[in-house]
Amino acid sequence: MSRTLFVTTALPYANGSFHIGHIMEYIQADIWVRSMRMSGHTVHFVGADDAHGAPIMLKAESEGITPQALVARYAAERPQYLNGFHIEFDHWHSTDSAENVELSQDIYRRLKAAGFITSRTIEQFYDPVKGMFLPDRYIKGECPTCHAKEQYGDSCEVCGAVYAATDLIEPFSTLTKARPILKSSEHFFFKLSDPRCVEFLQAWTTGSNASGNKRLQSEVLAKTREWLGTGTADSEANLADWDISRDEPYFGIPIPDEPGKFFYVWLDAPVGYLASLKAYCNKQNIDFDALLDPESDTEQVHFIGKDIVYFHALFWPAMLKFSGRKTPDGLHVHGFITVSGEKMSKSRGTGISPLRYLELGMNAEWMRYYIAAKLNSHVEDVDFNPDDFIARVNSDLIGKYVNIASRAANFLSKHFEGKLAYLGDEQTLQAELKHVTEQVRADFEIREYGRAIRHIMAHADHINQAFDAAQPWIMAKGISTADAAQKAALQDVCSRALAGFNALSVMLTPVLPVLADKVARELFGANASYRWSDAAQLPRQISPFKHLMQRVEPKMLDDLFEPPAAPAVTPGGEAIADAIDIKDFGKIDLRIAKIINCEEVDGSDKLLRLTLDVGEGRHRQVFSGIKAAYAPADLVGKLTVLVANLAPRKMRFGISEGMVLAASHSDDKVDSGLYILEPWPGAQPGMRIN
Ligand code: MSP
Ligand code: ZN
Repeated sequence: MSRTLFVTTALPYANGSFHIGHIMEYIQADIWVRSMRMSGHTVHFVGADDAHGAPIMLKAESEGITPQALVARYAAERPQYLNGFHIEFDHWHSTDSAENVELSQDIYRRLKAAGFITSRTIEQFYDPVKGMFLPDRYIKGECPTCHAKEQYGDSCEVCGAVYAATDLIEPFSTLTKARPILKSSEHFFFKLSDPRCVEFLQAWTTGSNASGNKRLQSEVLAKTREWLGTGTADSEANLADWDISRDEPYFGIPIPDEPGKFFYVWLDAPVGYLASLKAYCNKQNIDFDALLDPESDTEQVHFIGKDIVYFHALFWPAMLKFSGRKTPDGLHVHGFITVSGEKMSKSRGTGISPLRYLELGMNAEWMRYYIAAKLNSHVEDVDFNPDDFIARVNSDLIGKYVNIASRAANFLSKHFEGKLAYLGDEQTLQAELKHVTEQVRADFEIREYGRAIRHIMAHADHINQAFDAAQPWIMAKGISTADAAQKAALQDVCSRALAGFNALSVMLTPVLPVLADKVARELFGANASYRWSDAAQLPRQISPFKHLMQRVEPKMLDDLFEPPAAPAVTPGGEAIADAIDIKDFGKIDLRIAKIINCEEVDGSDKLLRLTLDVGEGRHRQVFSGIKAAYAPADLVGKLTVLVANLAPRKMRFGISEGMVLAASHSDDKVDSGLYILEPWPGAQPGMRIN
C-alpha cells in the first residue's frame, strides 16, 4: 500500500550557519525519506529558515542591516551545506514569507473564534533606553541564591537556580547596561489550560497514527505524561497558558486587529512547516488543502531534537487541532551530537564545522554512514569520535563492503566478459537476499539505523567469508585451459559475491545515495536508482569495475579539528588566536606578584627560580625561562604578573606553582628580546587583573 508522507526537520534559526547538529538531524531525516521513497511511497520533504524573533532583530541592528537582509545572507549559504551532504529537501522556505503570514494569522483567527485565545495585562522588564521589553536572555544580574554576578534572567549558570528575571539583584539590560524598569502591557495567551486541550493532548500523545505506529517514542511520552499530569483525568493545573504575543519593536508577524502586537516566534515557527509545504505545492501544482485535510491519509512527520519537544508535543498539535487542521502523525525525536564526548559549543570553537569538512575534501557519505551507524530510534546522544570514525569508514564501509566489488568483479571481467551466472538454485539465493533486505528496510522505517547497518555489515561478512572459503584466486589459476566445471564454479563464486554486493548497495542506498547510484548505473548498468525490490534481482552482467570510494586519511581528521587560521597577522608575526568570550577569559586568574627572591637554577641555562608573594600569606616557587634576559638581582623587589591558577607543574628542579607573563616574538629564531610585565606603581601583591 502506497503512503503519502509530509516530512519536516526543525527550522533552524536564521541568525547562524548550520552546525554539525543541524546536519545530523537532516541526515537522519534524509535517510528516512529516501528509504520510504524506495518503497514507492510519496514523500514531500520540506524545510525552512526560522526567521523571526528578537535575537535576529537585534543582531541585524548591530550589523546595521535589516533583519530580512540578515536572514537572506544565511539562506544563501544553505544550499552549499545541503547539497554537500546530499540532503534532498524538495523545498526550502522561510517563516518570513507571505504563506506563513497568511497561515499563522488564519490559525490564530480560528483559535480565537473557538475560544482558545485570552488576553491579560502582565508586568515585564523593559529597557527604558532601548525602548523595548527585554527577553530574559538580555537581562543579567546577581543570582538571588548564590550571589554570583552576571547571571542571565532565567537561571544561574553557577548554582543552577531557576528564577524570574525580576528576582535578580541589581538587574541590568545587556543591550544598554540600563537598569530595567517594570512596565505593564497586554499579552495574548493560547489557553492550553482549557480542559478540551488537556483532554485532546492526553489522547494525542498516547495514541497511534493511521499506520498503527505510536506517535511518540516511549521516553517522549514519559515526558508529556509528566507535563500533562501522569494521565489523570483532572490535570488542568499542570499546563499553563502560553504567552504568544510580543510588543513592538519585534521582527515577526502582526497579530490581526491588535496594533503593535506580534506573534511570539514560536507561534509562527512551526506554522512555517505548513508554509513551506504550501509554497512547494503551489510550485508543483499539488492541492495543499487536500493533502492536509484533517481526513486525508497524509502522514505528517516531524524530525526534531530533544530540546524542542515541549513545543512540538503540546503547543503544536493543540494549535492544529483547535484551528481545525490535521494534527501530526509522528514526532521523531533525536538526541544531541557531541564531539569526543564534549557538548559542542560554537563559542569555544569545538564541534565540527560541516563546511570545513567539505572543504577538506572529506566525503559526505563517510559522515552519513558514520551517523547512520550511531543512530537508533531513541532519544540518545550520539558521539562523534575521530578514531571510531576512521575505523568504521575504513574497516567496515570500505574494508567489508566496497572491497567485495573490487575483489569479485575483476575475475568476471577478465575471464567471463563481465557475464554473471549462478550454479544451482537461484531462488534460495534470492530468498536469502530478500530476507536480509527486508530486515534492513524495516529497521530504517523504525529509525533503528545502527541496527540496519549492523545487519548490512554482518551480511557483508557472510559474503566475504563465502568468497574467501572458495579461494577464487586459486580457482582462477590456469582458468583459460581449465574444464567447464571449474570455470562455472569460479563464475558462480564471483557472481554470488556480486549479487550480494548488489543487495548491500540497495540496502545502503538511503545512507550512501551517490555511491549506490554509481554502483547501480556504472557497475550493473541500471537506468534508475535502486528500490528495495532490486535487492533480490540477480545481476547478469557487469561493466569493468571502477574505483568506488577513497579511504579516510587520519590526517584529514587532524585538519578538521585544527582551528581555522586566524585572519589577522600582527607585527610579532603570529596570528591573533580565535575569539573567546569573557567567560573563557575569566577562567584565567591573573594576579599581581611581588618577586621576593630570584636565583639561578643549577643545571639550567634557561631558568630562573622566583619566590613570589601573591598575597596568600605564603610564598610560591615559580620557574621562569627568562635567564637570558634578566639577572636575578634586577628582579628582586619588583612587581610582575602571575597566572595564579595554572595547575602546579613538576619540573626537573622542583614544582612550579604558576607562570610569570613575558612578551617575546612568536618565532624563537627572531631574537628581539624578552620582556616581563610590570604593573604601574601602586598595584599590590594579590590584586586580580581583569
Ligand atoms: N528554530 C527552532 C526550531 C523551530 S521548529 C518549528 C530551533 N532552531 S535551532 O537552530 O536551534 O535548532 C534546530 C534543530 O537542531 C533542533 O531540532 C535542535 O534540536 C537541533 N540541534 C541543535 N543542536 C544539536 C546538536 N548538538 N545535536 C543534534 N541536534 C541539535 O530550535
Ligand atoms: Zn546562583
